[in-house]
Amino acid sequence: MPTVVVALAAAAALSFSLQSCSTEPPAWTDAEIAVLKSLSLDSLPPLPPDPSNGVADEPLAAEFGAQLFLDPRFSANQAISCATCHQAARHFTDGLKKAQAIGTSRRNTPNIVATGYSPWLYWDGRRDSQWSQALSPLEDPDEHGTNRIQVLRGIAADEAYRSQYETLFGALPDLSNTTRFPEVRGAASGQTWGTAWASMTDADRAVINRAFANIGKVVAAFERTLMPSASRFDRYVAALINNDIQGQEMILTADEIYGLRLFIGEANCTQCHNGPLLTNNEFHNTGILSAEGELPDKGRVVGVREVLENPFNCLGDYSDDPERRCPELEFVKTGTELIGAVRTPSLRNVEHTAPYMHKGQLDTLAEVLVHYNKAPDAMIGHNEAKPLALSGRQLRQLEAFLRTLSSPVSNASAK
Ligand code: HEC
Ligand code: HEC
Repeated sequence: MPTVVVALAAAAALSFSLQSCSTEPPAWTDAEIAVLKSLSLDSLPPLPPDPSNGVADEPLAAEFGAQLFLDPRFSANQAISCATCHQAARHFTDGLKKAQAIGTSRRNTPNIVATGYSPWLYWDGRRDSQWSQALSPLEDPDEHGTNRIQVLRGIAADEAYRSQYETLFGALPDLSNTTRFPEVRGAASGQTWGTAWASMTDADRAVINRAFANIGKVVAAFERTLMPSASRFDRYVAALINNDIQGQEMILTADEIYGLRLFIGEANCTQCHNGPLLTNNEFHNTGILSAEGELPDKGRVVGVREVLENPFNCLGDYSDDPERRCPELEFVKTGTELIGAVRTPSLRNVEHTAPYMHKGQLDTLAEVLVHYNKAPDAMIGHNEAKPLALSGRQLRQLEAFLRTLSSPVSNASAK
């Protein structure tokens, strides 16, 4: 046989053997099945109540919140809404490295689905409830660029909003006296705002803060309805548990199953991406390079200070829980090991939320996996992830698995 033909035959045999090895992944052990079950959406407990938000589960509040989420009038240029950056068609992200609105945000826009399960919001966890989080983009000079007094004036000026507000919370404060409630355009930052806010009495400031907190509470009621639905991965686990062999083979390919095996095994991803939302909701340093031309992000070490100081936190005056049950905040971890640590993101629908990482540093899932494979030294703090030494083929299998976590958002209130 000419050598070329021999080589071709050998290549054909090799590709055949690779294929046949990948069609028969080994059976799962009982311990592995227990891990798979713990990652499945069937293990997701009911959404925990939020006693700090008295309207968290009020359908009327969720409806009102959905309208506010989409309304661009609550912004400095009348053009920015929450949905500018959290776009339903992109699983509530924007496809950008860093969010763009009135200015450029500091970080990458995260998916907000199922954030009702998270004790901390933002990459650095600088807020501790969905409702207190929803207040800050409104006043952020780079995002909506407005302020709490203007937001409340906007609610008062819209008959439909005013009536929804008053049904839920009683009379809106009367803000017509502009000496008591100064009219300031633009973001709640800088000197003009600072002077105006300082000129008000404590009692008037509290009136504004309480009504503003209510706005966050209706937006949170809407966000609580955004839940993931079953993905191919979840259907695979269900078939596995029901011993439905044919179902299992139809739902995931051999490569996807090998990728899943790596995810819970050799690649140790479940150290941080665990539970049915594929996040432990904790803060970790994974040695991500800082964005080009920027100092490394200090992450949680700053976020923890901010959440403790935030007047809208769980222990603050605007919680609806008379008992102030705030174990997360009271026992919050602090310390220098949190330098450069950010919250582990959920991996549900990760296929649709590129670019990745807190500043969108990595464009593709393949780049994310190359990063984990190398586990470089961190620029700040220390990288908790260890180098993996996986082959190119294994990285592709891991990526194939990550793509099985996609599913449409289910709007719980629409059910
Ligand atoms: C300019 C784009 C932009 C706008 C407008 C915007 N966001 Fe965001 N959102 C972001 C970015 C960027 C982050 C992450 C910032 C960080 O972690 O420092 C974020 C974080 C969040 C989070 C936390 C998610 C998590 O997993 O921690 C929630 C919830 C959220 N936004 C809801 C809202 C709501 C509600 C509004 C409207 C009131 C809104 N956002 C307006 C860009 C935006
Ligand atoms: C030590 C904890 C830890 C381990 C181990 C870990 N991750 Fe992560 N993962 C994180 C954190 C924290 C981030 C966010 C990092 C950042 O933005 O700086 C992240 C981000 C990601 C992202 C980007 C998600 C997004 O929305 O931006 C993907 C994808 C991902 N991890 C997959 C994996 C895979 C696959 C493995 C296993 C090879 C793994 N992770 C191992 C903690 C971890």
